[in-house]
Amino acid sequence: MLSLFTPILLALTTAGPSAFGGSAQPAASTPTTTGPIAFGGSAQPAASTPATTVRIRTPAPLGTAELELITSIGGARAATYGEMTPDGFVVFAFHVGLGADDAFVDLGSGDGALVLQAGAEYGAVSSGIELAESRHRSALKALGAAPADAAARCSFVCGDASGDAADELLATATVVWCSNLCFGDELNRRLASRIAAAPHVRVVASLRPFPDGIRGLEQQELPLLCRMSWSGLVQPGQPPMPGHPCPVYLRTGK
Ligand SMILES: C[S@@+](CC[C@H](N)C(=O)[O-])C[C@H]1O[C@@H](n2cnc3c(N)ncnc32)[C@H](O)[C@@H]1O
Repeated sequence: MLSLFTPILLALTTAGPSAFGGSAQPAASTPTTTGPIAFGGSAQPAASTPATTVRIRTPAPLGTAELELITSIGGARAATYGEMTPDGFVVFAFHVGLGADDAFVDLGSGDGALVLQAGAEYGAVSSGIELAESRHRSALKALGAAPADAAARCSFVCGDASGDAADELLATATVVWCSNLCFGDELNRRLASRIAAAPHVRVVASLRPFPDGIRGLEQQELPLLCRMSWSGLVQPGQPPMPGHPCPVYLRTGK
């Protein structure tokens, strides 16, 4: 399984600073997961999709203060930017059964694209929390440009997703996404603890396993393959990656 992550990490760490928020990021330790790869539904994008069709945006570089704040909370690579593609989100949403009865929360919501997609395409009440103020402002701008009915269901908070600012969002959340691949272990532990305290969360997915799991939720044996902005980047000698293997946690009732 280790080799499956290798191209992803290479893609993340070898891309120029401008592609990932202006920081030259040191390599992280390689995350691990268990079990073989699953295709989460028939909507899975084809493995051979060429890299040119992948949406790779270049977000504005972070200011020094933003970068310092994010890394002080989440470790040296926590400000790294990459995102789930719209079709990756369709796979995620299909797999978790996202719908109008759900409250979707994105912990580390970047420019807010997933929050808006959840609100617009699935009718979910949808919210995101992002620590970088500039990225939060981009999300608010996108919210302002969204159709009124979808925008009315969506909201954004600027703050630490592992802090008190997330509590209000998590109090009603049923479905949580966390793009935590580059977050340090301590931040991941704090996030898991916040999620565990959220009473209505029924399913959580992330980019790598939370170090100690999430109390009250069980990690599924098979990860879900979701296409990310780097999924079309092929490394020499490596097979194309159809999507990132995302651990999925389900409420067990225990
Ligand atoms: C990889 S991006 C994910 C964007 C989007 N959620 C997605 O999956 O497509 C992760 C985001 O988490 C933000 N972030 C890092 N540490 C955070 C923290 N402690 N609280 C909130 N957001 C944080 C980063 O600034 C970055 O925008």
